[in-house]
Amino acid sequence: MAAPAQKRVLLIIGGGIAAYKSLSLIRLLRTAGIGARVVLTDAAKEFVTPLSAGALSNDKVYTDLFDLNDEAEMGHIALSRSADLVVVAPATANMMAKLANGLADDLASTLLLATDKRVMMAPAMNVRMWHHGATQRNVATLNGDGVLMVGPEEGDMACGEFGLGRMAEPETIFKAIMAELNPRTGALNGKHVLMTAGPTFEPLDPVRGITNRSSGKQGYAIAEALAAEGANVTLISGPVSLPTPEGVERIDVRTALEMFDTVHAHLPADAFIGVAAVSDWRAQTVAADKQKKSANSDELTITLIKNPDILASVGLHTTMRPTLVLGFAAETQNLEVYGKTKLRTKGADAIFANEVGDDKVFDQDTTNMMLIDAHGPTSVKRLTKAEVAQDITQYIISRLN
Ligand SMILES: Cc1cc2nc3c(=O)[nH]c(=O)nc-3n(C[C@H](O)[C@H](O)[C@H](O)COP(=O)(O)O)c2cc1C
Repeated sequence: MAAPAQKRVLLIIGGGIAAYKSLSLIRLLRTAGIGARVVLTDAAKEFVTPLSAGALSNDKVYTDLFDLNDEAEMGHIALSRSADLVVVAPATANMMAKLANGLADDLASTLLLATDKRVMMAPAMNVRMWHHGATQRNVATLNGDGVLMVGPEEGDMACGEFGLGRMAEPETIFKAIMAELNPRTGALNGKHVLMTAGPTFEPLDPVRGITNRSSGKQGYAIAEALAAEGANVTLISGPVSLPTPEGVERIDVRTALEMFDTVHAHLPADAFIGVAAVSDWRAQTVAADKQKKSANSDELTITLIKNPDILASVGLHTTMRPTLVLGFAAETQNLEVYGKTKLRTKGADAIFANEVGDDKVFDQDTTNMMLIDAHGPTSVKRLTKAEVAQDITQYIISRLN
């Protein structure tokens, strides 16, 4: 049997300070067996040399439109179609403006107009350039034309400012490229599942806080099983020490309030699953300094106030309620009674009620679980967390399709 053809990326590097990061992207692609052919704009040559890009890609580096006239050379049309995907990283404000307006005045912009392949852009620029009305109009046009955007991200910039405009990290762009080159097929293809996992941490002072014994294992197993079925999974995770499952977009948060805001920022979704063990309470005031023992008192009073209920806020959402809202309940007793109450009061479609206790569920690989939905409760089953993940995935498939 013939070996599958090597996938190829045409990587256009624009003239931004982030151009050096694209050298790491070339290395990541090559290590994964992806061919990377590089085009540098004139401005990009001020930031990285054709020599280093060529050494990493192990291929000729293309820079000038009129160098391609030679019969022995690949013409610009052939070059624009020689890859499975065209990636622009960094995509400068200038390059985005040119493509949005159909300009073709150098090799990079001509290739972008001539290509018959999907174009992916990783914008990188100063925060004010990014927020400029002209850039935002160009982004909207490019989105409408089917250009895939990766980033930009928020953070400190080379120019000393802070905000949106940093190029996505090479690993993030690499993952987006791999997802585009190897589209996943499965029963949940194209469905967006938003979910939470792990514990939350509510600070009391800079050193101490309130947390719980959730390890995140169940949520991460579910995220992995859903992604394997082709779902676009956004996993909002509390502090855990688990690797991110393949193909899952993970966003780390710490407190219940951060988790609440992040969940709502990622709606709409086809399904929401609240697996995280979210703290019901947080300290009314977080002490600025570590709370010292006092010689005069053997007691310390901390006032706790209620955190918002994430599951109910999604289940009862008036405009963006996902088609399917699933919640987890961790109970030490009365599984069915508490599970039914949760189902009713939180606007959920189903509750997976788990029996928890000293040596049960938390950080274990097995759980005792009961499913409660409109059809009533199932009997309590002892299952591994991987089996639960498979069961829930099948449940979601049957309910969403
Ligand atoms: C030091 C320096 C850093 C720059 N960084 C960026 C940048 O990150 N993003 C951007 O859009 N333009 C940046 N520019 C401006 C671009 O280089 C300029 O717009 C150029 O025309 C882009 O050409 P190109 O799009 O053909 O690569 C920078 C310029 C300089 C001198």
